[in-house]
Amino acid sequence: MTCANIQPIVILISGSGSNMVALLDAAERHHWQERWRAQVVGVLSNRPDASGLAKAAARGVPTETLDHRTFETRDAFDQALIVRIDSMVPAQSRPPLVILAGFMRILTPAFVAHFEGRLLNIHPSLLPAFQGLHTHERAIEMGCRFAGATVHEVTAELDHGTILEQAVVPILPDDTPGTLAARVLTQEHRIYPRAVEGWLARHAAS
Ligand code: GAR
Repeated sequence: MTCANIQPIVILISGSGSNMVALLDAAERHHWQERWRAQVVGVLSNRPDASGLAKAAARGVPTETLDHRTFETRDAFDQALIVRIDSMVPAQSRPPLVILAGFMRILTPAFVAHFEGRLLNIHPSLLPAFQGLHTHERAIEMGCRFAGATVHEVTAELDHGTILEQAVVPILPDDTPGTLAARVLTQEHRIYPRAVEGWLARHAAS
């Protein structure tokens, strides 16, 4: 397989990377390389202490860190992030699909524009409800009966963009934000690979 043929994928994380692991497992189990020439070429974290980095490395995926705290502005960080992501992609391959998997940064319009149409995110709520942080706490406080997760295309507006997959979970009477987050997370691991596979089927070269 030549690099010109592959559909590179770069996964961005900030923490434990359980969604990233679900994606790497699906890539292997569901033969993304054979079906769509899709290959996870790297995992990048904005936090050097993200435990997901070791999980990626253990699976043989190259990892990189770009610490946002060493940049003076959001624009400067995002510009460096663009350069770093593009440098992870083999020369002459297709432009990367960039997957945000618990990447806890608000992205600048310039970053989003650079990867337009090739940027996916997972958010732990049933969007458009509960954009932003503390989704589970807010859903419990509001007395919601259901919570969930959403995979969506990323636009310049936070937690907007076309919805690709959603999963619904019940909120139980004795739920805490922690127990609810754990229940939602198991569904995230199911819908994120499915959404990426849908994207690849629609976009990747055959
Ligand atoms: C996931 O629940 C994901 O939906 C959420 O962070 C967690 C990351 O877990 N993302 C956001 O809140 C983005 N706004 P993971 O590192 O184990 O995949």
